[in-house]
Amino acid sequence: MKILKIIVSVILFISPVLALNAQITVNQDRLKNRILNLAQFGIQENGETERVAFSDADLAAQKWVIEQLNSMNIENHIDFAGNVIGIRKGTKSNLKPISFGSHIDRVPHGGNYDGCVGSMAALEILQVLNENKVKTKHPLELIIFSNEEGGVMGSRAIAGHLGRSALGVKNSTGFTMGEGVMRLGGDTTRISEVTRKKGDVAAFLELHIEQGGILDKEKLNIGIVEGIVGLKWWNVEFNGFANHAGTTPMNARKDALLAASKFIIAVNDVATSFDGAQVATVGRISAESGAPNVIPGKVTTSLEIRDLSSEVIENVYAAIQKKAEEISAESGVEISFEKLDTTADPAIMDSSIQSEIEKSINSLGLSYKTMPSGAGHDAQDMALIAPTGMIFVPSKDGISHSPKEFTSATDMANGANVLLQTILSLDKKL
Ligand code: GLV
Ligand code: MN
Ligand code: MN
Repeated sequence: MKILKIIVSVILFISPVLALNAQITVNQDRLKNRILNLAQFGIQENGETERVAFSDADLAAQKWVIEQLNSMNIENHIDFAGNVIGIRKGTKSNLKPISFGSHIDRVPHGGNYDGCVGSMAALEILQVLNENKVKTKHPLELIIFSNEEGGVMGSRAIAGHLGRSALGVKNSTGFTMGEGVMRLGGDTTRISEVTRKKGDVAAFLELHIEQGGILDKEKLNIGIVEGIVGLKWWNVEFNGFANHAGTTPMNARKDALLAASKFIIAVNDVATSFDGAQVATVGRISAESGAPNVIPGKVTTSLEIRDLSSEVIENVYAAIQKKAEEISAESGVEISFEKLDTTADPAIMDSSIQSEIEKSINSLGLSYKTMPSGAGHDAQDMALIAPTGMIFVPSKDGISHSPKEFTSATDMANGANVLLQTILSLDKKL
C-alpha cells in the first residue's frame, strides 16, 4: 500500500513535467527569418531600414503581414484605425478573444527588433498552433497596432481615447495621423467604431524587447513587466527677434536659439533635481532662419516627460514651465508650450497575468526578473480595457531606438515560447 502511494505521488509529481515535455514550441529559425524579411521593408543603401508609420515601407510591410495571415488561413482585416487584426477561431463561440501583438512601424533610424519581435512572434504562434492542430476555447487575436511610435495611435483608438485632435499630429513622413489612417486602409470617419469596452478582450499580451540593459547585464532570459511609464509630449516655441548677426550688439538681442539652449539645460536640471526615476528629454530642435549671419528669431523644440506616476510628470512639467518663465524674462524671448495629443498614461500590468507568465517561464526552465518598463507600449492602452501582461526579452547592451538594436534568435524564441505557453494557460483558465 505504501509503495502504491509512493508511485502515485511520484506520478503526480512528474506529470506536469511530462506535460511540459509535450509542450509545443515555436520554430526559432522561422521566427528569425521573419524578422530578417520584415527588415527588408524600407531597407536603404547603407543596409539600415527606415519604416516610420505611414511611409510606403510601412504600407508594404502591413501588406506582407496580411499575406502571411492569408497563407495560414487566418481570417483577417484592417480595422478603421489601420490596425491589422487576425482571428484564429476558438471552439466556444461565446468567449472573447485572447489578444496579442505589437507594432511594425519604427522610429527614424530605429532598429529591427522594437515592436517587430512581438509582431513576428504573434505570427509564429498562430502558425505553430495550426501546424500542431491545437484547438483553443477562446478565439486568438493577433493585433499589429498602427503608428505605435508616433503616439500609440492604434491602441489608443481601441481603448477609446484617441482624441480628434490627435488626427492632426504629423510625424516625420509629413503625413498627419488622419492621413496616415487613410493610407493604412482605415477610415477616420469611422475610427470610433474600433473602440472596445472592458470585457470585450479576455486578456492582452505583448512580447517586446526590453530596450534597456538590465536583462542583458544580469544574464536573465525574461522580464515580467509590472508597470509601464506614462509619457507626455509638447512642442515648445521660442519667439525672439531675427536680426543682423554682425550689426546687433550682444546686449541688444533676442536670440531664440540661445534661450532654447538654456531651456534644454534647464529640462535636464529639473529632471535630475527630483528623487525618483523620472526622465525628461528635448529630442528635436529647429531654428529659423538657419543662416550663420542671422540671429535666430524662432526655434521649435520637442519636450517629452516620462514616469510611472502621472503626478510626478505634472510636477516635473510645472518646474520646467517655471524655469522657462525665468529664461523668458531674462532673454526677452517668448516661450510657449503646446501639449500634443499623443499621450499615454502610466499603466500597471495585471497581477494574475503576471503570475501566469511566471508559471510559463518556470515551465520552460528560464530565468527572469520582474521590472518596470521605461519605454511606452501599446499594452499600456490595452490595459485600460483588458487584463494585460508584457513579456520582455534582452536587448544587447541595452541599445534600442538605434540601428544597433539586437536580440538573439534564442532570446526571441524564449520570449515567444513564454508568450505561447501563457496564451495556452490563459485559454484553460479564463
Ligand atoms: C516607444 O517606443 C517609446 O517608448 O517611445
Ligand atoms: Mn519604440
Ligand atoms: Mn515598441
